[in-house]
Amino acid sequence: MVPAPFDQNAVLEGDCLALLAAMEERSVDLIYADPPFATGRKRSGRSEEGDPLGYDDAWPTLNLYLDWLRERIVAMRRVLRDDGAILVHVDWRASHRVRLILDDVFGEERFVNHIVWSYGLGGSAADRFARKHDDILYYGCGDARWFEPPMVPATSRRMQGRLKKATDVLAIPSINNMATERTGWPDQKPLKLLELLVNATVPPGGVVLDPFCGSGTTVVAARRHGRIGLGMDRHPDAVRIARDRLAEEAGSNDAGEGG
Ligand SMILES: C[S@@+](CC[C@H](N)C(=O)[O-])C[C@H]1O[C@@H](n2cnc3c(N)ncnc32)[C@H](O)[C@@H]1O
Repeated sequence: MVPAPFDQNAVLEGDCLALLAAMEERSVDLIYADPPFATGRKRSGRSEEGDPLGYDDAWPTLNLYLDWLRERIVAMRRVLRDDGAILVHVDWRASHRVRLILDDVFGEERFVNHIVWSYGLGGSAADRFARKHDDILYYGCGDARWFEPPMVPATSRRMQGRLKKATDVLAIPSINNMATERTGWPDQKPLKLLELLVNATVPPGGVVLDPFCGSGTTVVAARRHGRIGLGMDRHPDAVRIARDRLAEEAGSNDAGEGG
């Protein structure tokens, strides 16, 4: 069952299409959606105990993938408030086509930003520029939209040691093999990225929904920063990992508050 109205962080198991349909309309401030990217192969990881983890990411054609995603984006639009917004995280494979879907569902005048997440790590390429970024497409629902510009360290010599407003290029390293936040769930995004996005686009106390939550990064970021996070994933392993992370986050907060 989908909690409504939301008063607590939660992670639900199932296809987000069905879970979204069971939600109250206009109940969410922000959706951050990080769907499978249509890589054409199974995404694999490994738990700390060495057990295999993963999810399927193969569609017969890109058009079938886009039809699948469009249906879910339409369902996401229904649950967003009139002053809500959406961030859709994709990559070079489909971002140009997903932007057209968002133009269609939200209106091209509702486009806000094409955010580049520049993650740095990984190999190089001999025959082209190495692909080192993902695309996060930001759309609003209506005329009003909450936004608090994130501040990042300035890089110019003149501004040395000071903060400046972030641009639409976010240079944040992806999670390395030794990172303590690593869960082993494939394609886990860094908390630092989600903390920045949540703080910038969800009002304090507001509701953020992640319909493809995987290891629960968005829900943890929401809880950490005084927002209400709701996650959904169809894979039971992802849901278990996300719930464990959320419980750990809640435990460390309670310990902090008590001590
Ligand atoms: C790119 S991963 C998300 C990673 C996540 N942002 C994190 O930080 O761990 C995509 C997720 O979508 C989930 N997924 C795929 N199809 C789904 C569906 N129809 N409904 C809900 N979740 C789905 C997969 O199980 C996978 O966990």
